[in-house]
Amino acid sequence: MSPFRLTRTLPEDATDAALRADVQRGLTGRPKSLPPKWFYDAHGSDLFEKITELPEYYPTRAEREILLARSGDIAAATRARTLVELGSGSSEKTRHLLDALTDLHTYVPVDVSESALAQAGQALAAERPGLDVHALIADFTAELTLPDTPGPRLVAFLGGTIGNLLPAERAAFLASVRALLTPGDALLLGTDLVKDEEVLVRAYDDGAGVTAAFNKNVLTVINRELGGDFEPAAFDHVALWDAGHEWIEMRLRSRTAQTVKVPALDLAVDFAAGEEMRTEVSAKFRQEGVRAELSTAGLDLTHWWTDAPGRFALSLSVAR
Ligand code: SAH
Ligand code: AVI
Repeated sequence: MSPFRLTRTLPEDATDAALRADVQRGLTGRPKSLPPKWFYDAHGSDLFEKITELPEYYPTRAEREILLARSGDIAAATRARTLVELGSGSSEKTRHLLDALTDLHTYVPVDVSESALAQAGQALAAERPGLDVHALIADFTAELTLPDTPGPRLVAFLGGTIGNLLPAERAAFLASVRALLTPGDALLLGTDLVKDEEVLVRAYDDGAGVTAAFNKNVLTVINRELGGDFEPAAFDHVALWDAGHEWIEMRLRSRTAQTVKVPALDLAVDFAAGEEMRTEVSAKFRQEGVRAELSTAGLDLTHWWTDAPGRFALSLSVAR
C-alpha cells in the first residue's frame, strides 16, 4: 500500500459559508438559480456514477474510449511525474492514464466531494504501490495550493466538467489552471461536443429518471444543511438545449405556487406555478472555441482526439 493523504484545504465552516452565500444569492436572484457544485454530497456523487452508466449518457463512455486509445500518447508527450486531477470524482477513467504514466510519482485528485475522494484515493493507493496519492478536498474555482511534488506536472480536467462553468467562470478558471503550471507543463481537458439536439437532451433527461433525481438532490442538500423545507416532488426536472449559448440547461420547475422556507438564511421564497430555477449549464464545444479559450489563458493546443463518432474530445495543451 502506498501513501494516501486526504487534506481539507476548505475548512468545513468555509464550505458552509459558501453554500449559504450561493443559496442566498441564487434564491433571491431573478431568475432564481443554484450553482451545480452543490449536487455532489455523498448521495449526489453516487447518483452521478449511476448517470455515467445510463444508455443515454454517452460522454463517460466516449471519453473512456479516447483515454484507452491515447493514454500512451499522453504519457509520451508529457512525461508527467505529478498528475493533478480537478473534479476527479470516482477517478474511474483516470486508471487508464495512471497505467500509462510510467514515470508518475504523485497523483493529486481534487474534489469537493469528500466521500468520492476518500473512496477513490484509498482504493488507488492500495492498488498502486509506489504511487503517492495526495487527495485534496478543495473547490477548483477557488485558488488552489498544491503539494510540492516533482514536475513535469499534468493537470487533467475530465468528463466535460468545464462545461458546467459559465463562460466568464471558464476564463477565470483556465487562467488559474495556467498559474498552476510552469512552461512546458500540460493540461488534459475533456470537452463534450456540439451535436444533434435530440441526443443531447436525452443524455440529460433519461428514461429511468436518474438525472431528475440528481437534479433534485440539490434541494435535499439545502434541506439538510440549511434546514430548508423544499419538497422535491413539488418540482419537475427540465433539460433543454439553448442553441444560442450551445449549452444544455437543467432547471427545476415548480409544479404549483408555493413558499419554501430556508431558516438558516431567514428566507421565505415564493415560487410561482411553472416558475423555473436554473441548476446547471453543460456547455458543448467546438475545436476552434476550445483552442481560442486555451490560448487566451496562455495554453497552446497541441493534440485533439475524439471518439469514433466524434461526440467528445480530449485535448492536450501546453503552458507557454
Ligand atoms: N471527473 C469525473 C467526475 C465528473 S462529475 C468523471 O469524468 O466522471 C464532476 C465532479 O466534479 C464531481 O466529483 C464533483 O464533486 C466535482 N466538482 C464539481 N464542482 C466542483 C468544484 N467547484 N470544485 C471541486 N470539485 C467540484
Ligand atoms: C459533471 N458534468 C460534466 C456532468 C455533465 O454532463 O454536465 C454533470 C451532469 N449533469 C447532468 N448529468 C450529468
